[in-house]
Amino acid sequence: MPSAQSKWWQSATVYQIYPRSFADSNGDGVGDIPGIISRLDYLQTLGIGVIWLSPIFASPMDDNGYDISDYQAIAPEFGTLDDFDQLVAEARARGIGILLDLVVNHTSDEHRWFIDARSAREAAYRDFYVWRDPAPGGGVPTGLQSIFGGPAWTFDERTGQYYLHQFSRRQPDLNWENPALRAEIYQMMNWWLARGIAGFRMDVIDLIGKDVDRGVTANGPRLHEYIQEMHRETFGGSDAPTVGEAWSATPEAALLYSGRDRGELSMVFQFEHVTQQWHETWGKWQPKPFDLVALKRVINRWQYALADDGWNSLFWGNHDLPRAVSKYGDDKGFRVQSAKMLATVLHFLRGTPYVYQGEEIGMTNVPFTSIEQFRDIETLNMHRLHLAAGLPESDFIAGANANGRDNARTPMQWSAAPHGGFTTGTPWIEANPNCAEINVEASLADDGSVLAHYRRLVALRKELPVMVHGRYQSHLDGHPQIMAYTRTLGGQRVAVIANFFGRPVAADVPEEMQVAGKSLAANYSPVSAIGKQVLLQPFEAIAVGSQ
Ligand code: GLC
Ligand code: CA
Repeated sequence: MPSAQSKWWQSATVYQIYPRSFADSNGDGVGDIPGIISRLDYLQTLGIGVIWLSPIFASPMDDNGYDISDYQAIAPEFGTLDDFDQLVAEARARGIGILLDLVVNHTSDEHRWFIDARSAREAAYRDFYVWRDPAPGGGVPTGLQSIFGGPAWTFDERTGQYYLHQFSRRQPDLNWENPALRAEIYQMMNWWLARGIAGFRMDVIDLIGKDVDRGVTANGPRLHEYIQEMHRETFGGSDAPTVGEAWSATPEAALLYSGRDRGELSMVFQFEHVTQQWHETWGKWQPKPFDLVALKRVINRWQYALADDGWNSLFWGNHDLPRAVSKYGDDKGFRVQSAKMLATVLHFLRGTPYVYQGEEIGMTNVPFTSIEQFRDIETLNMHRLHLAAGLPESDFIAGANANGRDNARTPMQWSAAPHGGFTTGTPWIEANPNCAEINVEASLADDGSVLAHYRRLVALRKELPVMVHGRYQSHLDGHPQIMAYTRTLGGQRVAVIANFFGRPVAADVPEEMQVAGKSLAANYSPVSAIGKQVLLQPFEAIAVGSQ
């Protein structure tokens, strides 16, 4: 039985929209809010309960909206506040809540606070940001590097000090030690909550407690104090879902963020499972081969650690990550099967699943061949730095095609029309050339589509408490080709078993996995019982539930 602690967002599926690339209503090549409204019926039929909207606020778009110049205005290319209110109302009418992307580790350098702050050392908003004197003898105050490459400090000529920016120089870090800054943020959050939004996704929230003088960026000493204060001052007491982005999170940290008595967040995004293949030195730009055993080890660690307290978020992709089917599946020979397999193993885990736009139709990475085709500021910066460090251009492009952020940012593929039906104009970034075959219209017309499979999984989660609350147990942990687990709640058991590779595999099945009843999900023929042995086809995944 779902416990008394059960929350509505535990059985809901979240869908992430990257507004710039979702649907363009006016032909300017940029997705917008009216475009999103026009696709709400589609999202309703998918069955999702929440939309996480990547930033739609006023912004010079140095980092596609993750550089906000006014937290209480909508970027004109995306629409107006009226459009936004309409989106909230129309989504709500379809049982869908909106999560806003709260980017409060930094603002844009065009935010009025920063414009004031840099005007003079005595300026009213000076202390909203992090300023330091040059090192003795000149130069940057510390060796801290920006996540987008280069020093994390930029010198401000007029006032003779450096300001901190953990991302681009146009994204100055806010100073959370300043109570006046915190009060402004909470006020702004309450303003949005009063407009009827459901909750927040919190951008790089693990960075707000930084202590730069001690070289601490993530997981700083006052991090949890700030989040608890935010909770008290804003969404605490409501049933608003909140999810913090925390690249630094360990399972132990996740319990601090999402433990039931902590008064902090609903859950965090952790990234251990997606960074498994990153190179020690070159990071994501030089991917290592896929290792299923290592991936399972990470997933198991998180599932077990948050079994009794805290809550997991479940995802393969987002706007910063490559396309799931290209990364963990096979987007050539087994695109449909492997996309369904990945969806199956993810959606039966314990946690709240997130679907990134286009994942539900099996969209793939994009095969760009020239740096001119890329748009992402991180990719463009890293291109420069890697070439300067002696990496061959072709290696960098290969890395960017494997893991770069633009893979997820090409236009949503709605139909076989030019540019996938995303725009009647010229899209801000090229559409994937496979949009003529892989698109929503074709998926809707096909019972065997990836989309049909996602609809089923999203619906099942709302029907089956065992899928939401069941105890997780992994099996065949050392098997290099198969992922297998059970979920158990009262007398109900679900067994999930999947082949992660393009060749068939046979295996002996442990007793706990031998479940008979009915097929819950299948990407080949339905299977209603798992016996002592299984034979799995390439990328086959089956989920069987006891009666
Ligand atoms: C988060 C966002 C990413 C952005 C960065 C800086 O990681 O997901 O897109 O570039 O924060 O705001
Ligand atoms: Ca537009």
